[in-house]
Amino acid sequence: MRHDSVVPAPAAFDLYADDQATTVIPAVPGEVPGGAPAAYRVAAGGELEAREVSAWFGERLVLDRVSLTMPARSVTALIGPSGCGKSTFLRILNRMHELVPSAALAGEVLLDGEDVYDPRRKLTDARRSIGMVFQKPNPFPAMSIRENVLAGLRLTGTKASRAEKDELVESSLVRAGLWTEVRDRLSAPGGGLSGGQQQRLCIARSLAVRPEVLLMDEPCSALDPTSTRVIEETMTELAREITIVIVTHNMQQARRVSQTCAFFLAAQGTPGVIVEHGDTDAMFSTPRDQRTSDYVNGRFG
Ligand SMILES: Nc1ncnc2c1ncn2[C@@H]1O[C@H](COP(=O)(O)OP(=O)(O)OP(=O)(O)O)[C@@H](O)[C@H]1O
Ligand SMILES: [Mg+2]
Repeated sequence: MRHDSVVPAPAAFDLYADDQATTVIPAVPGEVPGGAPAAYRVAAGGELEAREVSAWFGERLVLDRVSLTMPARSVTALIGPSGCGKSTFLRILNRMHELVPSAALAGEVLLDGEDVYDPRRKLTDARRSIGMVFQKPNPFPAMSIRENVLAGLRLTGTKASRAEKDELVESSLVRAGLWTEVRDRLSAPGGGLSGGQQQRLCIARSLAVRPEVLLMDEPCSALDPTSTRVIEETMTELAREITIVIVTHNMQQARRVSQTCAFFLAAQGTPGVIVEHGDTDAMFSTPRDQRTSDYVNGRFG
C-alpha cells in the first residue's frame, strides 16, 4: 500500500521538520494510576522490522522494497555511500518521512509485530516509542541542562512532581553517560556544554520519554575522537535496555558498536536497496557480495 502522506505534525513536533533543530522529543505517556509514573520506568527495547519499504520524493523512487529486521536490545548499523537512502530509511522508521511535503512511502514498519503506520494508532505513539538523535547536537541553548532533559515533558504538558523530575533528570543523564560531568551545574545553559556533551544531552532528552528504540543518524560525525568514544560506550550500555539503529560513515565505528549491519547502495540512477545485511563481524570479515567487500574495505564511497 502506498501512503500518500502527509499527516500534519502537532505543534509539539514542529522540531521534526528540521534535522538541524534538535533531538526528537516524543510525547510522554501519562501516569499509571496507583503505580509508579510510567514516564519514569525504562522501556524494554523492542524488535523493529521493516518490510518491503519503498520511499519517494515526488515521483522519484529513492528506496526500493527494503526489508530489514533490527533485533531488540542490540545495535544495528546502517552503512553505505552518500545519497543511498540511509537517512530516509531511518526517518521512515519513526514516521518523520511523512513530514516532507513531497514524500510518499510504501511497505510496513513493525515494532514488536505492531504496525507503526496503523491508521488507528496515533502518530505521536510512534515517536514516543521510537526516538531520534541527529547528526548535529542541538539542545535548546538558552535552556538549562535540567530543563533540556525535561523538555519532552514540557512540550507535552505532562505533570510531574519536583521529586519525580529530579529522578528523571538524574536517571536520563546517567543513562546518557553525562551525569557525573553536569551534576553540579544542572541549571547552567545547555548551550554551554562541549559538542560531545551536547550530543549526550540530546540523548538524555530522548531517553527521558522512555523510547523502546533510539535512531541515531551519524551522531558522532561532528565530534572529536574522545567524545565519539564516550558516545559509543553510551550506545553499548543503552543497548542492554533499548534497541539502537545507527547510521554511520565510519566503518570502525560500525564494527565496534553494532551486532547487526546493513549495507545500502544506490547504483547510478537507481533507488537505494540493501545489498547485504547480517552479523556485523561476518559482514566485515567475510562479506558475501563483492560490492560490500569493496565498500567496507574503503575501495569506494
Ligand atoms: N527532502 C528531500 N526532497 C527530495 N529528495 C530528497 C530529500 N531528502 C533526500 N532526498 C534524496 O533521497 C535520496 C536519499 O537521501 P538520504 O538523505 O536518505 O541519503 P543518505 O544515505 O542518508 O546520504 P548521506 O550519507 O549523505 O547522509 C538522495 O538522492 C536525496 O537526494
Ligand atoms: Mg544521511
